[in-house]
Amino acid sequence: MIAGPVAITGAKGRLGRALVGALTQMGVEVRPWSRPEFDLDKTSAADALLERDGPTVVVHGAAWTDVDGCAREPALARRRNSDAVAELAASCRSSGVSLVLVSTNEVFDGSRTDGAGYAVDDVARPINEYGASKLAGEQAAAAAYRDAVAEKLWIVRTSWLYGPPGADFPHKIVAAAKRVPVGESLRVVADEFGSPTYTEDLAPAVLALISGETPGGTYHLVNAGHTSRAGWAERILAAERLAVPIDRISQREFHRASSPPAWGVLDASLAASLGVALRPWEDAADDYLLRSRASR
Ligand SMILES: NC(=O)c1ccc[n+]([C@@H]2O[C@H](COP(=O)([O-])OP(=O)(O)OC[C@H]3O[C@@H](n4cnc5c(N)ncnc54)[C@H](OP(=O)(O)O)[C@@H]3O)[C@@H](O)[C@H]2O)c1
Repeated sequence: MIAGPVAITGAKGRLGRALVGALTQMGVEVRPWSRPEFDLDKTSAADALLERDGPTVVVHGAAWTDVDGCAREPALARRRNSDAVAELAASCRSSGVSLVLVSTNEVFDGSRTDGAGYAVDDVARPINEYGASKLAGEQAAAAAYRDAVAEKLWIVRTSWLYGPPGADFPHKIVAAAKRVPVGESLRVVADEFGSPTYTEDLAPAVLALISGETPGGTYHLVNAGHTSRAGWAERILAAERLAVPIDRISQREFHRASSPPAWGVLDASLAASLGVALRPWEDAADDYLLRSRASR
């Protein structure tokens, strides 16, 4: 049981809105923090809000998630994904408030070739500015909590998020497939691997992790299993009954400012050993598309 109130930063984001929904369902008081009152570009944005709302926990879902934007403007990425975390963590720590920091599989370099997922204590070595800024945020939070990490700081890494309100990979693939002329195919990267993770599954799992006796520290939470971007797209097209062939291309053929880790698979067994595990990614993906269709 979580004794609220719980503050959610980035409350209008994909994960933020799922967290607000899950907490509301649990009957826990929620304090949604969004722009303009909570702004990652403003120093010490949290102080007045902590004073006003008196949360027991802050779940920090806000971040600059535009990975290509981070590659183009690394200083801004550091400001939003690291410096702002350092300030939030310092404010929370000095007010005796617990912090949950949501982080990413992109803290790893993706060079692993043994088919295993990255474990929580594997060495993080980001290869892009987004991953570097998020890792710096993790380190800043850990430094702020120092000896209180086990009681008051949870770092939750996840990957390939999708969910309401849409504008995510599944919706982009469906829209792109519908534009493909007859006889042509949809180009999708086949050598980037990860675990598609449904925000509606992740949010209650994050809350379960912090509700029990689970000590603070770093955890990985993703839907079970993994696939490539192309494998995910195939699942989406099959669920939507769109008979568009997929042209499996390599990352090198898909030009973008940021390079994601090729092997971005996370090992979520630590959380699972404590009873917090998400269902297989295929089931979650089908469920989401079914629900999206029903709401159209
Ligand atoms: N998306 C992924 O695939 C993925 C994968 C792994 C980890 N994560 C991590 O998971 C967390 C949630 O991601 P998400 O997919 O839910 O992201 P999202 O939908 O992009 O939401 C991010 C939230 O951050 C807020 N935000 C952005 N810039 C801000 C600023 N300058 N000041 C204040 N708020 C700002 C946004 O506010 P507005 O609503 O006002 O724009 C939004 O509510 C992030 O920490 C992200 O790094 C994401």
